[in-house]
Amino acid sequence: MITSKNIGILLDFIKNSKKNSDLYLLVKKNNISLSSKRESNFYIKNNNLETKINISKFYQSILNILLPILRKNKKLVIAQIGQSIDGRIALNNGNSHYINNPKSIIYLHCLRSISDAIIVGSNTIKKDDPLLTTRKIKGTNPKRIIIDGSLSLNNKYKIFNDGNENIIFTKSKKNIRLNNSRIIRLKEKNFTKNFITHIKKLKYKNILVEGGSKTISELINNKYIDILQFIIAPILIGTGINSLNLKEISNLNKAIRPKNNFNELDNEIIVNLFLNS
Ligand SMILES: NC(=O)c1ccc[n+]([C@@H]2O[C@H](COP(=O)([O-])OP(=O)(O)OC[C@H]3O[C@@H](n4cnc5c(N)ncnc54)[C@H](OP(=O)(O)O)[C@@H]3O)[C@@H](O)[C@H]2O)c1
Repeated sequence: MITSKNIGILLDFIKNSKKNSDLYLLVKKNNISLSSKRESNFYIKNNNLETKINISKFYQSILNILLPILRKNKKLVIAQIGQSIDGRIALNNGNSHYINNPKSIIYLHCLRSISDAIIVGSNTIKKDDPLLTTRKIKGTNPKRIIIDGSLSLNNKYKIFNDGNENIIFTKSKKNIRLNNSRIIRLKEKNFTKNFITHIKKLKYKNILVEGGSKTISELINNKYIDILQFIIAPILIGTGINSLNLKEISNLNKAIRPKNNFNELDNEIIVNLFLNS
């Protein structure tokens, strides 16, 4: 049976396996191993999942969404946005818990676990005080990367107190110390472009950009995002923080119309826009 106790181990196993060939696995509780075709109870053929073990619709959907990403032999930058159907990611007072179904946190932790690094902006740290770990599924934690332009964060936030490492990118020359953090200072001119160049040198395979709106929008404007993924909850919020604030266009023929697909996840819709293909 696939549960929150073994999904992290399973994703890790698939992530570290050969991408081009069919994969035959024997899944026994938390024990996952390669096996012969005959003895396997879980197999991925041409990126499609077939299994003889018990799997709920929820975990089946998670695997259907993540397998194509995991099996791609290519670096990917994925931005994810959990939003209301009217395009809001938070209220104006910053409250964003919980726009999405609480169960979608498990999905988010799965997405984090297949990522080598996770990028967020400083406002998200200030408003949500997240840990950015995979604790719900006990997967591998991605490296945390924070963009803090003016170096306005301080040691009161959780990410500076759990012992895991952070990389902070800034354009500020302020001399402050942040616990368990490496501060990388970049020139103010062309900051976002310099940031992207620097991250590319770190050679991560999958990178997840988790928000907020300013961070994702700026990276889309700089053509850094490969997959833009919306998790859309069937709720209306009204006035609040927009999920994106992209450059204004003068004509609808200039709208971005990328390849796309969508999946259902427990009463919510996940829409993928493939921006760089
Ligand atoms: N529902 C969701 O999926 C979700 C996910 C994440 C966050 N959120 C919500 O989103 C809200 C925060 O979003 P936000 O748009 O206000 O802020 P944000 O993107 O979290 O952070 C923006 C700040 O980060 C720095 N920054 C980010 N990218 C930069 C770049 N390319 N160049 C220079 N500086 C950059 C800047 O810091 P300086 O101002 O210091 O220069 C900027 O003001 C919160 O309310 C949070 O709850 C929702």
